[in-house]
Parts: sequence; C-alpha cells; structure tokens
Amino acid sequence: MKVKITATGSYSPEKILTNAELEKIVDTTDEWITDRTGIKERRIAAENQCASDLAHQAALSALNSACMKPDDLDMIIVATVTGDMQLPSTACVLQSKLGAFNAVAFDVNAACSGFIFGLSTACSYIKTGAYKKVMVIGVECLSKFTDWEDRTTCVLFGDGAGAVILEPSDDESSCILSTDIHSDGRFAELLYVPGGGSMMPASPETLKDRAHYVKMKGNEVFKIAVKTLENLVIDTLKKNNVDPSELSLLIPHQANMRIIQATATRLNLTPDRVFVNIEKYGNTSAASVAIALDEAVKTGRIKKGDYVLLEAFGAGFTWAAALIKW
Ligand code: COA
Repeated sequence: MKVKITATGSYSPEKILTNAELEKIVDTTDEWITDRTGIKERRIAAENQCASDLAHQAALSALNSACMKPDDLDMIIVATVTGDMQLPSTACVLQSKLGAFNAVAFDVNAACSGFIFGLSTACSYIKTGAYKKVMVIGVECLSKFTDWEDRTTCVLFGDGAGAVILEPSDDESSCILSTDIHSDGRFAELLYVPGGGSMMPASPETLKDRAHYVKMKGNEVFKIAVKTLENLVIDTLKKNNVDPSELSLLIPHQANMRIIQATATRLNLTPDRVFVNIEKYGNTSAASVAIALDEAVKTGRIKKGDYVLLEAFGAGFTWAAALIKW
C-alpha cells in the first residue's frame, strides 16, 4: 500500500515583526539579519493565541482543501516543541477545538524535523491498514519561548502552522516514495530549552536565569546542519534511484538562507527548483516545511508527477527527509 498527500493547509498569525522593528528591541541591524540569515520579517502570535489556535486554523484550511469534515479524520499528529501546555498534548486540545472525535490524537517532538517525523509516523500507521485519513500538523509559537533580550536567537524565529491530510493510495505514480528520520542525542545542549522540565523544574531561580527560553550555539549548529543535510538529500535520492537533475522542487527547512543554498549547491539545483519563504516567516521550526509545502502547492510550484524533496534539521539533533512523487 502507498500513501498520498491529498490536501494541504497553513496559517500564519497576522502580526508582522520586521527587522527594522527588531533594531529597536536588541542591538542588531536589518543588514546583519538579512546577510547572515535571509530573514526580513516574521509572524508573531497574538497574546491570546497559542499553538493549538494556529494549528486549528491550518487544520481547517487543509480540511477545506480536501472537502472533508473533522469527523472524517481517524488520526491527528501534531509536531511541536512549543505546545499549549506540558500536558495534555496539543493534539488533544486541537482535537477538541476541531470536534474531530473519531480521531486518536498525539504529539511528536522532533523540533524542526517534527513535521517530517510526523509524516513518517502517519505513513507507517496508514500502511498497517488501521488508519485511513490522517492529519499531520507542524505548529510553533516560538515567540513565547524566545528571549527577546538575546540578539543571537530572537531575530531567527517566528510563529505559524502547516497541515497535510494523508490517505492510502494504490497509485504508485503519485505517492510518498520514502521517509527517512534520524537522531543523535549527543548534541542536545547545542539547541535546547533547559528550564521548566523535570531536569530543572520551574522556580524563581529558573525565571531569573531566563532558563525557559531557547538557547542555541548557532555557529556550531550551522556547521553540523550543513554537512548533515547535504548527506541526507544525496542519500535519499540515491535510495530512490532519482538523479538530482530529475528533482522538480526542494522544500527545505527554512532556518538559514546560507544552509538552504549549501544544500541546493550540493544538488546542483537552480534557484527556481528550491522553495524559499524564509524572508517572510523566519524559522518556524516544525511548521516551516509544512507551511512551505502548502505555499508551493497553492502557488502552482508543484505539478502532478513532480519529484518533490522535503528536508529538515533541528534540535536533538534530529534530521529527516521525505521524497514525494506528486
Ligand atoms: N545582530 C548583530 N550581530 C549578531 C547578532 C545579531 N542578531 N547575533 C549574533 N551576532 C554577532 C555575534 O555576537 C558575533 O559577534 P563576535 O564575532 O563579535 O562574537 C557575530 O555576530 C557572528 O556570530 P556567529 O554566531 O558566528 O554568526 P553566524 O554567521 O554563525 O550566524 C546564525 C548566526 C544563528 C544565524 C547561524 O549560526 C545559524 O543560522 N545557525 C544555525 C541555525 C539552525 O540551523 N538551527 C537548526 C534548526 S532550528
């Protein structure tokens, strides 16, 4: 049995935070952010919006594209590291907001690779024959975990959500050809939120130390991400006997324009075969590839029969790819 993406959707909060506005918050410049990352602006969730609210809008958008009702879903997988609460899962909160009571709902935590980990999980469940209409959502409210006094991280992140619906298919000429997921926990402390969990429970001390915010050694993450992603995309194509010249569109995780360019160069891809929207949204972690996929579909960048490659790298470390014949 094969698995097919039958619909996509996404949602980005209305509030735009530009580089010029960030210049007034921390010691940075539009020039530095643009040159080092490619980001010009990012979306920020409203004070009363949490991850499940963004996920809800993206889910409705995907259901609308599929002409489906929430009741039709039998599984909801939410990939996030900025969920509504420590418990219950954001997927359960979303299930309630949607009224999708025929679905089992659970979260996946693989940081920026989370959406592709979710796709991989969904494919496995569908292939057992037990589940037929699975929604996978990547969503983040990173602005609520960002240290707005730390210029090395606060310029990078944004909020948003993207969703897909997956269904079984017999059509070998239009399906997900492979998903690859990987992790290496030895690098956990290069990118993490140390406070607020069982290792360092919330306390006046953790608040004072700003331990509840994302910490990243960006430069070290950068070097490993570039190398890992280059190997990942080459391996994925090789495994599927697809030559890079046959690839119609690379949809990379939108973390840094220089990382995206390095991967594109390794595959010898011209810019028209690489999907980039980092300038509008920054790094939205698990939502990034999902939002990009929806925009690529809705703007006609993907046609039936195209080879489309999704890839991501994130905290953990985790990294993942999915090759799709659209
Ligand atoms: N504005 C101005 N200067 C800044 C700055 C900012 N917002 N942030 C950092 N700097 C400074 C640093 O303090 C440093 O100054 P110094 O040389 O005087 O010490 C200088 O810029 C270079 O910093 P560095 O961290 O080496 O920059 P970089 O070229 O590596 O770019 C990142 C930083 C974060 C943009 C980049 O490393 C990156 O994208 N990392 C990977 C992110 C990623 O892929 N994450 C995984 C998935 S989430």
